[in-house]
Amino acid sequence: PKPKPGKLRRTLRWAWRLSYLSVAGLVGYTLYVIYDDRHPVPQFEPDPSKKTLVILGTGWGSVALLKKLDTENYNVVVVSPRNYFLFTPLLPSCTTGTIEHRSIMEPVRAILRHKRAAAKYYEADASSIDPDRKVIRIVDNSEIKGATSETEIPYDMLVIGVGAENATFGIPGVREHSCFLKEIGDAQQIRKKIMDCVETAAFKDQSQEEVDRLMHMVVVGGGPTGVEFAGELQDFFDEDIKKLVPEISPRFKVTLIEALPNVLPSFSKQLIDYTENTFREEKIDIKTKTVVKRVTDKTVEAEVSRPDGTKERVVIPYGLLVWATGNAVRPIVKDLMTRIPAQKDARRGLAVNEYLVVQGTRDIWAIGDCAVAGYAPTAQVASQEGNFLGRLFNNMAKTEDHEARIRELSSKMNIGSGNSAEAAAEIEKLEKQLRRIKDIKPFRYSHQGSLAYIGSEKAVADVSWWNGNLATGGSMTYLFWRSAYLSMCFSTRNRVLVILDWLKSKAFGRDVSRE
Ligand code: FAD
Ligand code: NAI
Repeated sequence: PKPKPGKLRRTLRWAWRLSYLSVAGLVGYTLYVIYDDRHPVPQFEPDPSKKTLVILGTGWGSVALLKKLDTENYNVVVVSPRNYFLFTPLLPSCTTGTIEHRSIMEPVRAILRHKRAAAKYYEADASSIDPDRKVIRIVDNSEIKGATSETEIPYDMLVIGVGAENATFGIPGVREHSCFLKEIGDAQQIRKKIMDCVETAAFKDQSQEEVDRLMHMVVVGGGPTGVEFAGELQDFFDEDIKKLVPEISPRFKVTLIEALPNVLPSFSKQLIDYTENTFREEKIDIKTKTVVKRVTDKTVEAEVSRPDGTKERVVIPYGLLVWATGNAVRPIVKDLMTRIPAQKDARRGLAVNEYLVVQGTRDIWAIGDCAVAGYAPTAQVASQEGNFLGRLFNNMAKTEDHEARIRELSSKMNIGSGNSAEAAAEIEKLEKQLRRIKDIKPFRYSHQGSLAYIGSEKAVADVSWWNGNLATGGSMTYLFWRSAYLSMCFSTRNRVLVILDWLKSKAFGRDVSRE
C-alpha cells in the first residue's frame, strides 16, 4: 500500500491550497474594485428644493464627511483650491522620491463621481463668509481665469474644513527663505532643493566652507513632521546620494532644531528616548532648547538655553531649511471669528460645541485643524469629525423626511381618507424610528494611537491597546507603520501605486534627477 502523508504534511498542503485561494481572492477583489472604479453607476441630480450644503476644503475632514454623506439628501457644493485629497502621512516620503507625489493624491472629481447623487465642485478659495446673509464669497486663484473669477454661493448649511496654515510666529526671514511641508508643492520644492544643494556642492572648485554649508540640511520643529522628514532625508543620503555622489557625502549633515527639551513632545517618554538615540546612531544632530529667532538666505540664528540657565546666540549656516513648527489659523477663519461675537475668546480656531456647530451660529459646522474641539490637530481627529457630521446630516435628512411623512399621514387620518388603521400603524413605526434617529450622541474622539517614521526602517508607535497604551519602536513597528498607512490610503489605486513606489525605490534607488 502507498504510504499516507503525515498529519503535519497534510495540514501544510491544506494551508498551501488556502493561501492560493486567499491570494486569488485578493487579486479578484482588487480587479473588481478597479472595474467598479472605472464604471461608476449613473448619477442623478438631487431635488432642487432640498437644502444647499456647502463644504469648504477637500482635506481629511471634508472628504471623510463626503464619503459618509448621502448626497441625495442635499444639494452639495464643495469648494476648495485643491482639486484632490492629499494623504498627508506619506508626504514626507515624497520629499526624497521614496514615493511619487501622485500616488498619494485622489482627485475630488473621482470621489464625487462615486456618490449616488451628483454634487458640485468649484476649484476656488473661499475668501469670506457672511453668516448674516448666509453666503460665501469664492475666488478662482488659478493661473487661467474665465470672465468670472469671483462670485457668491448662498448656503443653508455650511461646513468649514479648510485646515490650517504654517505657523511662523512672525519670525523674520522664515517665509522668504525656508520650505514648508504641508502641500504637494512643498514636497516637490524640497525634492528639487535637496538635489540643487548636492549638485552645487559638487560644483568644480567649490570652497570647503561652502560645501559644508550646502550639505547642511536644517529642520526647525521637532514635532512629528520635522522628525519624519529628518529620518527620510538621512535615509536618502545613506541609501542613494552616498553611492551616486561619494565625493561630497562625508560633509552631509542633518540638524533638527527644537525649542522644547525634547523632540516628539506628544509621544511617551520611552519613545522620545528611543527616537533621540536612533537619531544619534543615524548621525542626525538634535539641538533641543534652541529657539530660532531669525532666518537669512544662508543662516539660521537661534537662542540656545544652556544647563546653567544662560542663553547663547548661535548662527547656523544651512543649504536647505525646512520649517515645521506647527499650525496657524487661516485668514478666512480669522475673519469669520471676528464676525461672530461668541468667538471673541477663541484663539487657535473656531470654537465648536459637542456637535461641532460653530459657537454663536446655528447652521455652520467646523471640522479638523480649523476647529477647536479640545483635540490635537491630526488627520485622525479630522476624519472622525467628518464621519460624525456625515452621520449627523444623514440623520437630520431622515428626520425631516419622517416628520413630513407623519404630518401627511396625520392629515389624511384627520380628513378620514384612506385606511386609518394602516396609517396609525405606519405613524407608530415612523415615530419609533424617529426616536432612534434623533438619539445622536455628541461627538467623541476615539484615539487609535500615534505613529511616526524615524528613519533607517524604524518607526515609533503609541497605540491604544485594550484599555491601556502600548509604546513600541523599531523595525517591526516600521512594518506595522507601513501596513497601517497602506490600509488607510484613500483608494485601491493609491494603495497599488504606493506599493509599486516602495518596490521601485528599493530595487532601483530613488530617482535623483532634478525636474
Ligand atoms: P487639511 O487636510 O489640511 O485640508 C484642508 C483643505 O482645505 C484643503 O483641501 C485645502 O486646499 C482647503 N482650503 C484651504 N483654504 C481654503 C479656502 N480658503 N477655501 C476653501 N478651501 C480651502 N495626522 C495624523 O493623524 N497622522 C499622520 O501621520 C499625519 N501626518 C502628517 C504629515 C504631514 C507632513 C503633515 C503636514 C500633517 C500630518 N498630519 C497627520 C496632520 C494632518 O494632515 C492634519 O491634521 C489634517 O490634514 C487636517 O485635516 P483638515 O481636513 O482639517 O485639513
Ligand atoms: P507640532 O506643533 O507638533 O510641532 C512643532 C514643534 O516646533 C514644537 O515641538 C515646537 O516646540 C517647535 N517650535 C516652534 N517654534 C520653534 C522655533 N522658533 N524654534 C524651534 N522650534 C520651534 O507641528 P507638526 O510636527 O507640524 O505637526 C502638526 C500636527 O500634525 C500635530 O498635531 C501632529 O501631531 C500632526 N502630525 C502627526 C504626524 C504623525 O502622527 N505621524 C505626522 C505629522 C504631523
